[in-house]
Amino acid sequence: MNKTILVTGGAGFIGSNFVMGWLAQSDATVINLDYLTYAGNMENLTSLEGDNRHIFVKGSIGDAELITGLLATHQPCAVVNFAAESHVDRSIHSPEDFIQTNIVGTFRLLDATRGYWNGLSTEDKAAFRFLHVSTDEVYGSLKKDDPAFSETNRYEPNSPYSASKAASDHLVRAYHHTYGLPVLTTNCSNNYGPFHFPEKLIPLLITNALANKNLPVYGDGQQIRDWLYVADHCSGIRRVLEAGRVGETYNIGGWNEMANIDIVHTVCDLLDEARPRADGKSYREQITFVTDRPGHDRRYAIDASKIEQELGWKPAETFATGIRKTVQWYLDNPEWVAHVQSGAYRDWVEKNYAGRD
Ligand code: NAD
Ligand code: DAU
Repeated sequence: MNKTILVTGGAGFIGSNFVMGWLAQSDATVINLDYLTYAGNMENLTSLEGDNRHIFVKGSIGDAELITGLLATHQPCAVVNFAAESHVDRSIHSPEDFIQTNIVGTFRLLDATRGYWNGLSTEDKAAFRFLHVSTDEVYGSLKKDDPAFSETNRYEPNSPYSASKAASDHLVRAYHHTYGLPVLTTNCSNNYGPFHFPEKLIPLLITNALANKNLPVYGDGQQIRDWLYVADHCSGIRRVLEAGRVGETYNIGGWNEMANIDIVHTVCDLLDEARPRADGKSYREQITFVTDRPGHDRRYAIDASKIEQELGWKPAETFATGIRKTVQWYLDNPEWVAHVQSGAYRDWVEKNYAGRD
């Protein structure tokens, strides 16, 4: 079968890292379908300019006609779905976009894919995969001593974002059970790394620190997230695509739980070392505790035993190595940062932080 893959959301943070990582280890063509919302950025893909294995198409996963045409033309052996609205705080301010993209969009993509898949030869049908990229947030919030999320945890999403992702996971599952579409779902923990949009905690901390702005910590800063370097998430997805059992879900994580305040301190300390403040004080001086996120989940943690034991996957980076690379990437790429901090970004920052103490 043709080795071409269709990636959706490949101009976003994780999608662009995935496309670059894919093309670094394969000669197969990637069709990159992205709607270029505020989070999609062609500057994430500049290293692929002139590479004819990368075909970019601006369009939505909600456009069934477009997707049907792309599938018919390029005959991919897999669809990898990253396209989504991804920011929890935005889902609290404007949930509608999350319903449209994450639920309706995923449905349209699934349904168009089902039509294409039905027309394949028996052999190509068996080889085809639809991989849906999802999140640990669908499992809800853990208490301090609860075991980490395994694939059998019940779904208890708490934000409009996580509820919309949960709904999309259910649709993916249903398309396998009802129609036999060969699906795989991955549920990953918090990613960090290059090309991360600075609405999210780690890039917001780095860019605010360097701009001499406050470092806003929601609530008491004791919420726990489980951080994974983005290239490791991408290698996990590649491994699931290659060897995952059809119809299964795989949790992806690096066993790296940290309280938010410890993330903030780590970023400040790395910046103190790499780019000391002119006044000789620490960036920790800029930390400001602000009003909490409504419904803020207290703790996420991924039990990655299944992907490790069944598929032999392991992350390559520790948090210490990954966060150092990440801070250095932002120091080395001030133009990328300046370009993403457009008027629309400033409007968002005003909307999200103005009402907080
Ligand atoms: P992101 O917001 O950086 O990128 C999303 C991309 O999807 C953007 O390029 C955007 O333009 C595109 N997009 C949005 N709506 C679209 C539509 N209708 N059609 C086509 N493209 C559209 O998100 P991310 O952080 O890279 O996350 C990618 C995926 O991984 C999401 O599905 C998210 O739920 C999941 N995920 C993210 C994390 C994380 O920590 N960031 C962790 C686990 C899972
Ligand atoms: O767990 C996976 C999820 O991780 C993904 O599914 C989401 O797409 C991704 O955005 C991320 O969600 P979080 O809400 O955990 O990420 P965020 O970077 O927005 O926030 C991380 C933690 O930091 C969270 O507890 C909220 C807190 N925070 C965030 C911001 C933006 C702050 O304290 N201050 C802030 O200004």
